[in-house]
Amino acid sequence: MEDNILEVRDLTTSFKVSGGKFKAVDGVSFKLKRGKVLGIVGESGCGKSVTAMSIMRLIEKQNGLIENGEVLFEGINLLDLKELDMNRVRGNEISMIFQEPMISLNPVIKIGNQIGEILKVHRNITGAQNKKRVIEMLKLVGIKREEEIINEYPHQLSGGMCQRVMIAMALCCTPKLLIADEPTTALDVTVQAQVLDLINDIKDKLNMSVIVITHDLGVICEVSDEVMVMYAGNVVEKAPVEEIFDNPIHPYTMGLMNSRPEDFKKGEPLKCIKGKVPKLSELSEGCKFVNRCDYAMDICKRCKPQLKTIKSGHDVSCFKYDLEEEGKL
Ligand SMILES: Nc1ncnc2c1ncn2[C@@H]1O[C@H](COP(=O)(O)OP(=O)(O)OP(=O)(O)O)[C@@H](O)[C@H]1O
Ligand SMILES: [Mg+2]
Repeated sequence: MEDNILEVRDLTTSFKVSGGKFKAVDGVSFKLKRGKVLGIVGESGCGKSVTAMSIMRLIEKQNGLIENGEVLFEGINLLDLKELDMNRVRGNEISMIFQEPMISLNPVIKIGNQIGEILKVHRNITGAQNKKRVIEMLKLVGIKREEEIINEYPHQLSGGMCQRVMIAMALCCTPKLLIADEPTTALDVTVQAQVLDLINDIKDKLNMSVIVITHDLGVICEVSDEVMVMYAGNVVEKAPVEEIFDNPIHPYTMGLMNSRPEDFKKGEPLKCIKGKVPKLSELSEGCKFVNRCDYAMDICKRCKPQLKTIKSGHDVSCFKYDLEEEGKL
């Protein structure tokens, strides 16, 4: 039997906007095996964070709604849990690291107390034990001067240090699943590499499963076992990391691969995917990528392609591939 820590089935999350509503996440399904890293990649606005926030049940209630689907964490559907039970899961069994550490940390609470509070709430660890564990966590994430840092405030630390503190906070209850949403975007390149190494290293130490969300394919390549490509609220392709880099099938995935800045040669024009992500509120029947696709056919305008497994572990939703396989192209 497969040991999936997480299985998301047909997740659909919508937001109300003036004049109607739109699906930011539209029927997303995937599985994550225990101890593995899934990278979610795609352009801005394609639904990566909304997917993560839906798993954590942190969608704003005023205008957002998880309309459909299941989020099975160790076989239990998180969407069925009472809010109180979900609070126990959050930060304890599933933790999330957000993009902006400076915003996510409380500016008026000392670093030691911010980490300590989580241990108090979730694990009832107090007093000297609490301080000991906080210091252990700071050491684990590679923070030196840990005895001094616990008495400092976020503004006294660099961006990289704050991100390490965020990681320490996310990991202090040894979660089974870590969701890191753009964990390195706000950091400079050398610190980015250190944070990625750190996540990799700790993942192995704690046998944690990880979802890393990013639009940086370099990051994906470095840390992921599997990659899921999202476009306009849908999964368009999913495969093991080597497979997706060696053999991308969906024209959108190919476009992402071709527009990597590290592949540019000096003097050549920058490559990019033409057009932009469509407004989700204005989508029609067919494939959402149709207006940007170099291979678009008539059927792509009329029908929505389904995600199909084309070989073990490799799924793609594209009519071009389907027709080529059937020998009709
Ligand atoms: N609270 C909200 N209210 C209304 N619309 C929202 C809300 N949160 C997200 N959206 C919309 O949902 C869509 C998906 O957003 P999401 O934040 O998941 O994108 P993303 O893939 O994480 O992008 P980025 O790479 O920029 O972080 C976008 O069109 C976004 O504007
Ligand atoms: Mg996001």
